[in-house]
Amino acid sequence: MTALPPAADRLALRGDLLDFTGTPAWGRVDDPAVRFRPDHWLLVEGSRVVGVSATDPGDGWQREDHQGRLILPGFIDTHVHSPQLDVIASYGTELLDWLNTYTFPAEQRYADPLVAQAGAERFLDALLAHGTTAAVVYPTVHKVSADALFDAAARRGMRLITGKVLMDRHAPDGLRDDVSEAERDCRALIERHHGRDRLAYAVTVRFAPTSTPEQLAMAGRLCREDASLYMQTHVAENRSEVDWVARLFPDARSYLDVYDRVGLLHPRSVLAHGIWLDDQDHAVLARTGAQIAHCPSSNLFLGSGLFDWPRAQAAGVRLSVASDVGGGTSLSTQRTLADGYKVQALNGQRLTAWCGLHAATLGASQALGLSEEIGHFGMDTLADVCIWDWAHGTVADHRLSLARELHEKVFAWITLSDERNLVASYVAGRARYRRSP
Ligand code: GUN
Ligand code: ZN
Repeated sequence: MTALPPAADRLALRGDLLDFTGTPAWGRVDDPAVRFRPDHWLLVEGSRVVGVSATDPGDGWQREDHQGRLILPGFIDTHVHSPQLDVIASYGTELLDWLNTYTFPAEQRYADPLVAQAGAERFLDALLAHGTTAAVVYPTVHKVSADALFDAAARRGMRLITGKVLMDRHAPDGLRDDVSEAERDCRALIERHHGRDRLAYAVTVRFAPTSTPEQLAMAGRLCREDASLYMQTHVAENRSEVDWVARLFPDARSYLDVYDRVGLLHPRSVLAHGIWLDDQDHAVLARTGAQIAHCPSSNLFLGSGLFDWPRAQAAGVRLSVASDVGGGTSLSTQRTLADGYKVQALNGQRLTAWCGLHAATLGASQALGLSEEIGHFGMDTLADVCIWDWAHGTVADHRLSLARELHEKVFAWITLSDERNLVASYVAGRARYRRSP
């Protein structure tokens, strides 16, 4: 990791501040939940946001002048696989073949602590270089891969939610645990990391097909014992996967029900995808408070299907957006959102810039129960902040110069920008990434 200067006691960042004070309505481009404060100063003392000023706060502050740039809360990626940077952009398969052909062989290498540690450092630096300051992450089945991620996140002061992946069947040698060994590893990891700095443990069930009913029951027990634990898994991503789950769990009403009946659905549950769910499943998600992490880039790349965002939102399901790298093809949240727009367009719907950006910031923090800490510029939040160029390159420059109102400008920014627009990422008030001059 590059050595960066220590945090200033009093830091003021000048630019166009954009965040949300509520949930934007579906389809509305002039939404009152949008808080845009052009050419303001974001005031940070130590690690926390202490206010916003329309004028220069003066000599008592270390001032960084980013006039004409966009300042956003750091993005929150609610579903991403750290070891899959090794297989991002792999050709030619749908989910189940993709796992066997590319993903499982790559994950086998993470049994080696040196591979796990180097992978964790590379991955978190890559997140920060894409404007993502907090994430819910899958490492591998190996305890050492979770330890490595937690330790690397603690060194960067990042909010990170992760846990050792549970999988005790339908996976190759070197990638299977068993119930008692897995329970021992989970308890040791929880003891060591959960609640340390900005780290939290997620009981991490890969997906129903790779856990025996006994392992799912153990995972449910862990969640019931400690309501402060998160849970992450995949659900109803691909039609062959859904059929397989129906054969493996004939007593379950649906794929989601496999998780519900063992107690894995609660307000700290993050379920990736959820494309092939029915009305009853949506009602269960709304009742339990479990959230769907929508992964449009992955869903397009793996040909999984088109998630119906307004249907899930209308049913009261909590929603966030996620890259799902390496099924997804970029860590850039703008690229994820641009793909999200296209997915909804294929459904005959329109995703506003506001619904998309909200899901990657305030919406994600609320769904994770972290809105007092991150996701917006409210008083006393931790200063996880990113500074962006509005335009990178002549086409974007030209297009943004023609934008007549804010939604048009921000929508064009999402669609035409990526990590090359990123100027700096701050984590708890400290610069952890700066673009080379
Ligand atoms: N389902 C089970 N494992 C995975 C994974 O690694 N990626 C995706 N996209 N889906 C999964
Ligand atoms: Zn995934």
